[in-house]
Amino acid sequence: MNGWDMRRIEVSRTDHMFAASVKPETSALEKVRKLEVTMPDTITLTDNRTGKQYELPLVNGNIRASDLRQVKVEDTDFGMMSYDPGYSNTASCQSSVTDLDGEAGILRYRGYPIEQLAEKCTFLEVAYLLLHGELPDESQRLNWELQVKHHTMLHEKTKQLMSGFNYDAHPMGVFISSIAALSTFYRDAKDVDDPECRLLQVTRLIGKTPTIASYAYRNSRGLPYIYPDNDLSYTANFLNMMHRMVEPRYQTDPVLERALDVLFILHADHEQNCSTSTMRNIASSLSDPFVSTAGAAAALYGPLHGGANEAVLRMLKDIATPDRVPDYIARVKKGEMRLMGFGHRIYKSYDPRARIIKKTAYDVFEVTGKNPLIDVALELERIALDDDYFVSRSLYPNVDFYSGLIYEAMGFPTSIFTVLFAIPRTAGWLAQWMELMEDPELRIARPRQDYIGGGVRDVPRREDRAA
Ligand code: ACO
Repeated sequence: MNGWDMRRIEVSRTDHMFAASVKPETSALEKVRKLEVTMPDTITLTDNRTGKQYELPLVNGNIRASDLRQVKVEDTDFGMMSYDPGYSNTASCQSSVTDLDGEAGILRYRGYPIEQLAEKCTFLEVAYLLLHGELPDESQRLNWELQVKHHTMLHEKTKQLMSGFNYDAHPMGVFISSIAALSTFYRDAKDVDDPECRLLQVTRLIGKTPTIASYAYRNSRGLPYIYPDNDLSYTANFLNMMHRMVEPRYQTDPVLERALDVLFILHADHEQNCSTSTMRNIASSLSDPFVSTAGAAAALYGPLHGGANEAVLRMLKDIATPDRVPDYIARVKKGEMRLMGFGHRIYKSYDPRARIIKKTAYDVFEVTGKNPLIDVALELERIALDDDYFVSRSLYPNVDFYSGLIYEAMGFPTSIFTVLFAIPRTAGWLAQWMELMEDPELRIARPRQDYIGGGVRDVPRREDRAA
């Protein structure tokens, strides 16, 4: 037995009834619940260094990382931790907002399949669902829409602040900074323990994000800001604030308005992704929801997360024509770059949102005319899905692969794409924040580290330090 084996820890379930029947299309959580009926709720861990055994309780089929601390060689040891860079196998919370099964390609908000929500609901109904756990009845819906509309205006000083950004400031940088700045206007938001106050801030944020997004865009174009028009739907108002010129009201095509609403629904939440975890991390220190949302938006900005939609479009423009796709794929396989809009930490079969977005793209092209880059995207998808490099790594189109083509066809500039993602995701961040604030296990987020630096040493005098 080599040194590594000597240090091995063995883990075994205390029961062997793994044969419990599991229907296809059930989510991971449902599978665990089914198995729990027939199985004990502990796991036995053997430390091969000491021969000691530990029986650890299971919570929904998982161990609590803190239970590992009892695993020690010497009594004075700190105890064992789990090491998980990028948190690829760590549940940081219990949540009932969004159910995601990456193997089966399932996404549900509060139990409702994303396909049905995209077909039957508006974005504001879905935001209500995420926040309150149930779809609104008719009077709740009307009241919710009224509340959100009541909060679409920005303080005039926010406008001044936004106009201070340089003309070429990236709209996402402006969006993040302006959301954070709202914290200075709504100082009552600090009262995060008060449920009524929390709901007020949530409504403010959902009402104001489209206004901030449109001002960020118009600032970059040197265009005058357009005030919200509360006679319009949430999405039509946003389109009006984005595109209106000298006409009294921008005429929105109903197909495009609906397409954007569907995109908002699809982007509204995605459980503990990078930006949502950031939201929870910041909010765990009881920061107000404006600065927490700004932090979440900053995490979204990166090209490996929400910034990918912008990167996809730049990539498609760079490839330009379908005949150049094989060369591009070859470069990706050589490791020169990533195929943007492909791959996902959780989805290992297909991103169900990508399927809906692909269909929506064709609805939009009926109105706007075909975006020629769709042929490049289809060719990329065709070749990649047939190539062992991508198949063996379970790399499929994700939500960002087709969304940029729709945004571009609708006349949005590439630099605003990630802001278009941030508007609806704000609802998800806030639903997760409300859940966190009511979580009896809420503690400040404070991960551990595995220190691998050197031991103690004395500070040398300046003149004795090596060059
Ligand atoms: N193109 C080419 N190769 C890829 C890609 C890609 N898009 N994504 C992953 N890989 C490869 C990696 O090089 C790695 O290969 P290796 O095993 O030979 O080293 C393997 O697949 C696993 O990749 P990881 O980086 O470990 O996967 P991870 O789960 O950490 O990353 C991520 C997921 C960040 C989404 C990744 O797939 C990626 O960078 N995709 C492109 C960016 C993108 O589209 N992001 C949007 C995601 S959806 C969203 O956030 C809204």
